[in-house]
Amino acid sequence: MQIRYSVDYADISRKAALIIAAQVQIKPHSVLGLATGSTPIGTYKELIRFHHEEDLDFSKVKSVNLDEYYGLGPDHEQSYHYFMRQNFFDHINIHLENTHVPDGLTADVSKTCAEYDAMVASLGGTDIQLLGIGDNGHIAFNEPHSFFFANTHLVDLNEETIKANARFFASENEVPRQAITMGMRSILSAKLILLLASGPKKAAAIGQMIHGPVDPQLPASILQLHPNVMVIADREALALA
Ligand code: PGA
Repeated sequence: MQIRYSVDYADISRKAALIIAAQVQIKPHSVLGLATGSTPIGTYKELIRFHHEEDLDFSKVKSVNLDEYYGLGPDHEQSYHYFMRQNFFDHINIHLENTHVPDGLTADVSKTCAEYDAMVASLGGTDIQLLGIGDNGHIAFNEPHSFFFANTHLVDLNEETIKANARFFASENEVPRQAITMGMRSILSAKLILLLASGPKKAAAIGQMIHGPVDPQLPASILQLHPNVMVIADREALALA
């Protein structure tokens, strides 16, 4: 794993955006694996700025997102479909038909999950996968468990994640209890994984991800098996690294 120390959140965002922008410039048909949550918002802002000020062109880019709350439709303000439009897609020239987010309203979960994995495979995997990390070491909604889930699947969110995400909802009761999440196979199919982390709450998970055993109790530890992972984080997040 390559570690890129950053002075603060703005620096993390700038570094990540520069790498993604270079990828898109070198390969206009890039497949970007995208993430939601607070951490990547600054990266999206920088990429939007590059689009407006430097003509960074997303017209041929395809994207796949990591996850979606089960039961939320694309127009629900807390859905990840909505998040992506608000924070990124509506401000660049990507074609919405080239973007993919799991269907949170599907009536046939296993078919939707299988089709999502097949879609990622048909794109040849992602060129860059942007990731955050949960305080408990989850990546996407792959929660601590007794084994690593390989494929896209429906997951019960654990109490820690529900509490952490309650800040986006009117109350904790409104946080969906399940989500559809990309599994490790598709995540690890990325040619480059960019994992971003900021602040002291991430320090324990980052320390274990880098130095701990590869153990599904710390899902991000599986990244030790990927040949091309770049961790871009500030000193607080890297305090135990
Ligand atoms: P955050 O979430 O970016 O909002 O901290 C990361 C995650 O839970 O994966």
